[in-house]
Amino acid sequence: MGSMSIINIAVLFQIFCVLSQARDVQWNSVNPYSENSPKLEADNKIAIFTALEKIPKDDKRFITFSEAMKLMIYRNSKNLIELGTEWGEEKCTYDGCSTSIFGLFAYATEKFLISVDNDQNAVYKAKEATKWIEDNVSVIKSDSVEFLKNYDKPIDFLYIDSMDYDEKILDHIQHYHLEEIKAAYRKLHKYSIVLLDEGNMDHGGSNKLVYEYLENLGWERVVNKWQYLYVHKDSLL
Ligand SMILES: *[C@@H]1O[C@H](CO)[C@@H](O)[C@H](O)[C@H]1NC(C)=O
Repeated sequence: MGSMSIINIAVLFQIFCVLSQARDVQWNSVNPYSENSPKLEADNKIAIFTALEKIPKDDKRFITFSEAMKLMIYRNSKNLIELGTEWGEEKCTYDGCSTSIFGLFAYATEKFLISVDNDQNAVYKAKEATKWIEDNVSVIKSDSVEFLKNYDKPIDFLYIDSMDYDEKILDHIQHYHLEEIKAAYRKLHKYSIVLLDEGNMDHGGSNKLVYEYLENLGWERVVNKWQYLYVHKDSLL
């Protein structure tokens, strides 16, 4: 009897070790768009809605921000990268203050956000706004493509918002964003989430070449609003 239970405990312990190792490296493969997907836990819902309190409910980014955060919970995303930093929290209503929103979300759900911008003033303002959660947010002044070339962790969530729509230089903007997705692509994986700002705009918006690039590689638009949200089709099986 006594030796039996010791063996059982040893076996259970081994199973536990295997499971906890597996959990360390796996992104959650639950398809949130399937009928039997689990419901979000209350504390995760609170984290999302608290982060979103910074913008009005009718903000054109509200639905895509909230859907992106839901997906990050489902998929257990850890590393969040934002290209294009906010201009400070006084601009929440018009500009979305994404660094504060995703930063607060990262803090509340134990994730880590890196926001990259080459504008000194934006970096300064965003650093000020997220100082209190600096364990979960890093704001870096850099050219985004240079940054991505040297970044060596998986990118679980990518938000492309570095250049604002401007019809006079739209071609330049679209190509710049294309360079960003190309540089980021080697760090994306099957369960990555990609959010594109200014999708539904004239001439394909500022991310036209990005979503064409992604769609050619099997990515699917799962939310189609003013912003577009993409996941890989293999992650929805
Ligand atoms: C982020 O925040 C949580 C606490 O909310 C913490 O446990 C975690 O280690 C932090 N840092 C990183 C790098 O994720």
